[in-house]
Amino acid sequence: MKIDLHTHILPREWPDLDAKYGYAGFVRLEHYQPCCARMMIGDRVFREITDNVWEPARRLEEMDRAGVSMQVLSTVPVMFSYWAKPADALDLSQRLNDHIAEVVRANPTRFTGLATIPLQDPDLAARELERCVRELGLRGAQIGTHVDANQHFGRIDTLNLDNAALQPVWSAAEQLGAAIFVHPWDMVGKKRMPKYWLPWLVGMPAETSLAICSMIFGAVFARFPKLRVAFAHGGGAFPFTLGRIEHAFHVRPDLCAIDNKATPRSYLATADRPARFYVDSLVHDPDALRLLIKLFGSQRVVLGSDYPFPLGEPHAGELIESMTDLSADEKAQLLFGAAQEFLALDSVG
Ligand code: CO
Repeated sequence: MKIDLHTHILPREWPDLDAKYGYAGFVRLEHYQPCCARMMIGDRVFREITDNVWEPARRLEEMDRAGVSMQVLSTVPVMFSYWAKPADALDLSQRLNDHIAEVVRANPTRFTGLATIPLQDPDLAARELERCVRELGLRGAQIGTHVDANQHFGRIDTLNLDNAALQPVWSAAEQLGAAIFVHPWDMVGKKRMPKYWLPWLVGMPAETSLAICSMIFGAVFARFPKLRVAFAHGGGAFPFTLGRIEHAFHVRPDLCAIDNKATPRSYLATADRPARFYVDSLVHDPDALRLLIKLFGSQRVVLGSDYPFPLGEPHAGELIESMTDLSADEKAQLLFGAAQEFLALDSVG
């Protein structure tokens, strides 16, 4: 059995939201061949995509080829639109969520889903999360690593995930038993990264570490003890720089330990228990995956492929399956056990 936590989907038909909401910046889909479309923002091509992004039958074929039992569907992070007016972001989130729920309903043993929520308005976001979990049967939400500054909402600052304004979202997720998958977007430093795909290679790992450090230092896990959170791309830069982060906590508590006295390492695995939070397995390197298993425990590292995009693992689970030094039990945790626990799936298939 294999459960792939990290896969992206879009509806085939998507309205022109610039026209609908009356201001620019939303993604449009231009279908120029039956197989192929362009995600457009204004006149700019954001990304070329193929029909496996929107066509469940194509996804199922590719899942069967890779031996994937179940995909966890979430939107493409560029759709988050945390910069937009809250009511519009709610409307677009509902379109995405209703679509994911429809795909899951048609194939409930092969797909499950995570919602998108308008994080720029935490109360609206909490209500949409509740609708998605209670009425649509989604397992939780995929959120970004921060909330953009929002000119439509009178806020000029970016909110990191320690911000007290986000409490209603954590509280709703904890009460609903909803899983939160944190995916980097709107990458830090992107203005200095015009070339070489650097926002994806340098910005995303930094962004993810920023989100993890914000939630640890901001005591979010301490305040919401039952909240389940997973971070994409193996936790980005966090695992490799943990030694530096832990050292900083001890030498400059006046800077690092102001909101939480618990050390960063206390959130990670010990001999007796796994880490307090999850990461996905998408690191493309066996030594990096070994480090994740050591730091988090195999019960907290969840197979994630970033299907169907090129920076992902083309054959989901191949890295895990190729590692001869892992026990059968560890592999089972990585390939599906950790995902079942994170998503609170009692049984699959
Ligand atoms: Co992704």
